[in-house]
Amino acid sequence: MEIKKAVIPVAGLGTRFLPVTKSMPKEMLPIIDKPVIHYVVEEAIASGIDDIIFITGRSKRSIEDYFDDSPELEYHLKQKNQHNLLKIVQDISSMVDLHYIRQREPKGLGDAILTAQKHISDEPFAVLLGDDIIVNKTPCTKQLIDNFYKYGRSTIAVEEVPVEKIGSYGIIKGTPLDDSLYVLEDIVEKPRPEDAPSNIGAIGRYVFTPEILDCIKETVIGVGNEIQLTDGIRLLNSKQKIYAYRFTGKRYDTGDKTEYVKAIIDFALNNEDMKEYIEEYLEGMNLRT
Ligand code: G1P
Repeated sequence: MEIKKAVIPVAGLGTRFLPVTKSMPKEMLPIIDKPVIHYVVEEAIASGIDDIIFITGRSKRSIEDYFDDSPELEYHLKQKNQHNLLKIVQDISSMVDLHYIRQREPKGLGDAILTAQKHISDEPFAVLLGDDIIVNKTPCTKQLIDNFYKYGRSTIAVEEVPVEKIGSYGIIKGTPLDDSLYVLEDIVEKPRPEDAPSNIGAIGRYVFTPEILDCIKETVIGVGNEIQLTDGIRLLNSKQKIYAYRFTGKRYDTGDKTEYVKAIIDFALNNEDMKEYIEEYLEGMNLRT
């Protein structure tokens, strides 16, 4: 069965980025002229997704507005003959089918994904967390989908994480099949480094068989007093094989301030209009040290 649907949870409070996230969703932070969430949606579309379910919360209205039509702005751009900008604005609101479900209280990632159950029904689907931007010719989600098509089983994207960050991730134990693929043995949510089964963490991309939803339903409150996706994955793993895939690509966790700045620098260096100036600026800094 083809994977056409994706769930993008965006209900998180963005505490790592306070105070700006007090009145602005972290997913709307700009990487130059596009918000982070735009890149995530682009990745989904480039991976063959045509139906996206955002799990939103209070104070996330600007995400809906961003992907909606904007009649006044479009009228203004038309009047001024700014056709390039008009096209950019119109393309955003016609990117893909979008649906919004409100998670009433932030009860965890597992709970957020579960709110999409009626819409997902019995189809396999992708999950993309709204913080991560992953740059690669073959999008990360597509890499997972390709593995799903090969083995017919849920596949989660992983990468090595530094020891000091182990406590921020779901950490896996896996049996390697080749350089990039593991059979999942176990996954533990945010362990202490000394208890962690490895240093390989689940990043924000997953492809699931629909059975994950009943597994999440069966899980009890976990780490941080939340319904954890990781606990659902553990239960699913006791019923079906799950793969962990060491994806190819460069990942920016834009919910982290330093990574966010690195993303902006790298994107500027890849932007034809800016490249030269930014390079010159960075070189100038080297001279000063
Ligand atoms: C969530 C998951 C965690 C995963 C991480 C990836 O944690 O619970 O298993 O490793 O995303 O970013 P969060 O970052 O929402 O605390």
